[in-house]
Amino acid sequence: MYTVNDIKKLHFEPSSLCNARCPVCPRYVMGGTKNTKFKEHAVSLKQFKDWFAPDFLKQLDSILMCGNYGDPGTTPDLVKIVNYINDCNPDIVLNITTNGGMRNETFWKDLGNALNKKSFVTFSIDGLEDTNHIYRRDVVWSRLEKNVTSFTSTGANARWEFLLFKHNEHQVEEARKVAEKWNFKNFKLKENPFGFQRNRTDQKTDTMLVFKKNGDFDYEIFPANTPDDLVKLSKNSLPNLNSNNITFDIPTEQPVSEFFEKLKETDVSCQSKNQKEIYISSTGQVYPCCYLSGFWYFENYNWEHVQFRNMIKEDYDLLNLNNNDLDNILKNDFYQTKLEAGLEKGNCRTLGCAMFCSK
Ligand SMILES: C[S@@+](CC[C@H](N)C(=O)[O-])C[C@H]1O[C@@H](n2cnc3c(N)ncnc32)[C@H](O)[C@@H]1O
Ligand code: SF4
Ligand code: SF4
Repeated sequence: MYTVNDIKKLHFEPSSLCNARCPVCPRYVMGGTKNTKFKEHAVSLKQFKDWFAPDFLKQLDSILMCGNYGDPGTTPDLVKIVNYINDCNPDIVLNITTNGGMRNETFWKDLGNALNKKSFVTFSIDGLEDTNHIYRRDVVWSRLEKNVTSFTSTGANARWEFLLFKHNEHQVEEARKVAEKWNFKNFKLKENPFGFQRNRTDQKTDTMLVFKKNGDFDYEIFPANTPDDLVKLSKNSLPNLNSNNITFDIPTEQPVSEFFEKLKETDVSCQSKNQKEIYISSTGQVYPCCYLSGFWYFENYNWEHVQFRNMIKEDYDLLNLNNNDLDNILKNDFYQTKLEAGLEKGNCRTLGCAMFCSK
């Protein structure tokens, strides 16, 4: 695939902790009980320095600080880590993605002052005061407002990313005005959030089921443009569900499926290989991309997850920065042989790669 000297982009998960409970986030089983498979950990400055030498940081064009299981804003050493990166590479572009609801004004001001002019924070804000918490559960609007405005008061670049749902689709123009008032430099609408599915056979639209911490059913989220009468219909037939009672059958072999057979024959263009990008989790695990990294700790494994786990499990410990350096990790057979073979058509095809990166 590549060697350590080729890498230009890093997607890094500084923390797998979070203050929020978004319904589709893999931290939880459908927003309800906690996913117990992943380890909560925030990287420290010392650990970051042990993992990433100045020369490696110097060669990078950009670092996306985001991740699959947590929020960068929960990393206690985040400002110190940003300062270290900037000392090594003053021209680097950092993009830090967050729900913005954690910590206080001092932290956000310090972060704003630490970022260089090319870098930015992307705030995930899905609505306004009366709606943001419907998806960004546990984010408190008054805290978010103080944090964002403290950050932007430093002149640092802030971007707003807005996931569009039925419950916030009427607020887009108002949100743009708030973005201007709070000194955001950019506002991006994400019109097709993932995570909707057909939950009942009698239902005429896909929805997102949301559960409480104890597993009891809480409420339902609808895609943008759902006709009002379908929302009412669903509300009248709410399921009597508890996320603790949802069981997942883990396949042990590839199910017979026309879909999988088709996936084996698509043309795949590997984003990680083309852009010389790698993904590193908060526990130091090195993956080619965020797509496949998400396959490791799912609660509900489908065959594409099992297939990838089987591919990586033999080398799993060797592919961790606590056990091995990045140079050696990228020389491992997993990167040099297995991953490459999985991009080819036929029975060795990595199905996850075809799902995410078919042309
Ligand atoms: C797991 S989050 C980690 C970063 C940060 N905690 C956040 O939520 O912004 C990674 C990205 O997934 C996005 N995301 C969360 N739920 C989503 C959904 N249902 N559809 C599309 N993107 C989603 C977040 O907004 C964020 O950009
Ligand atoms: S804010 Fe991000 S990490 Fe936190 S629960 Fe939501 S999607 Fe997951
Ligand atoms: S999913 Fe596969 S093809 Fe796509 S970027 Fe990741 S490793 Fe490459």
